[in-house]
Amino acid sequence: MGKRIGLLTGGGDCPGLNPAIRGAVIQATALGHECVGLLDGWKGMIEGNSRPLSREDVEEIVGKGGTMLGTSRTNPYKKEGGVQKCLETMKKLKLDALIAMGGEDTLGVASKLFAEHKFPVVGVPKTMDNDLSSTDYTFGFDTSVTLAVDAAHRLVDTGRSHKRIMILEVMGRHAGWVSLFTGIAAGADYVCLPERPVDVKDMTARLKAAHAKKNVALVVASEAIDLPGEKKDEKLDEFGHMILKERGVAERLTEIIQKETGVETRSAVIGHMQRGGPPTLFDRMLGTRVGVKAAQMVDAGKFGVMVALKGTEVVPVSLKDATGTLKTVTPEWLSLLDTLMYPSGAAKSAGAQGKANAAAR
Ligand code: F6P
Repeated sequence: MGKRIGLLTGGGDCPGLNPAIRGAVIQATALGHECVGLLDGWKGMIEGNSRPLSREDVEEIVGKGGTMLGTSRTNPYKKEGGVQKCLETMKKLKLDALIAMGGEDTLGVASKLFAEHKFPVVGVPKTMDNDLSSTDYTFGFDTSVTLAVDAAHRLVDTGRSHKRIMILEVMGRHAGWVSLFTGIAAGADYVCLPERPVDVKDMTARLKAAHAKKNVALVVASEAIDLPGEKKDEKLDEFGHMILKERGVAERLTEIIQKETGVETRSAVIGHMQRGGPPTLFDRMLGTRVGVKAAQMVDAGKFGVMVALKGTEVVPVSLKDATGTLKTVTPEWLSLLDTLMYPSGAAKSAGAQGKANAAAR
């Protein structure tokens, strides 16, 4: 018998969500099921706000950024009676299953609901931060880094004309994947990530050497790095995450670099531009594949799982394992980065950062 399947998208939006919704709806309806969209993430579950989702509704969305279902950072566990209301919405809308698309927060809620209430849920991993465990990549990451790489190249063009050091601040929260991949793919001379403290001496030496040779130097910095003398913004969201956008990393770093190198320095923050726009080919394909797989999991009655990319396959993994720990940049990646950043000459590259890598291990 056909099931009624709810779909929601929670947390920060990212390119690839619409292809994932489309994949899930097309596969589910092809298997004889009916789909219902919950609006604005877990908020829609709490408030019972929904809309029908037919194949026609999703036909044209594969190349569109954002999410047609809307999203929010609502946490049912932080709302009075929130969990109970989610359970009631399932009954009221006669839903047999829920496909929850999100990052560690949204899927953390899904995992808890499954563990505590046998909630029939399948998770779909999304986040531009690429920090979810148990999956090789999340959709949203490729598009956001592609855009950041383009922005970095533009900064270098103007920086070279003015003989400046240029800084690009990127999102990515407490994992450095976005800054790492942007930095490597844009040929940055220095990359600052949250996984290790910024070594100002090493950074300065490398930037001075790069600037002396090329008349320009590029730094890619994550929004979540700690800088000397920094005042932290302590505002937290409903999932307990620090709101990073007002920390002013780019400005602080500009001051430090300009003072230490004596070279005129400018910075730009790409921010939410990284989250908009049409998904890249990779994100369209991954979004579609995980959406389709999620519908297949519901069809098979397999709940408490997240559909993950492992190598070239999309497979089910435990939701609990996927949301247990954040996937951060490994020492191996840091070593690769150190090889690629501009050499300071004196440091023989590996010296100072090598120690920081050892500490990060
Ligand atoms: O988690 C995705 C993300 O884009 C982070 O990289 C960033 O720190 C955060 O969301 C920004 O959140 P908001 O859209 O709520 O400002």
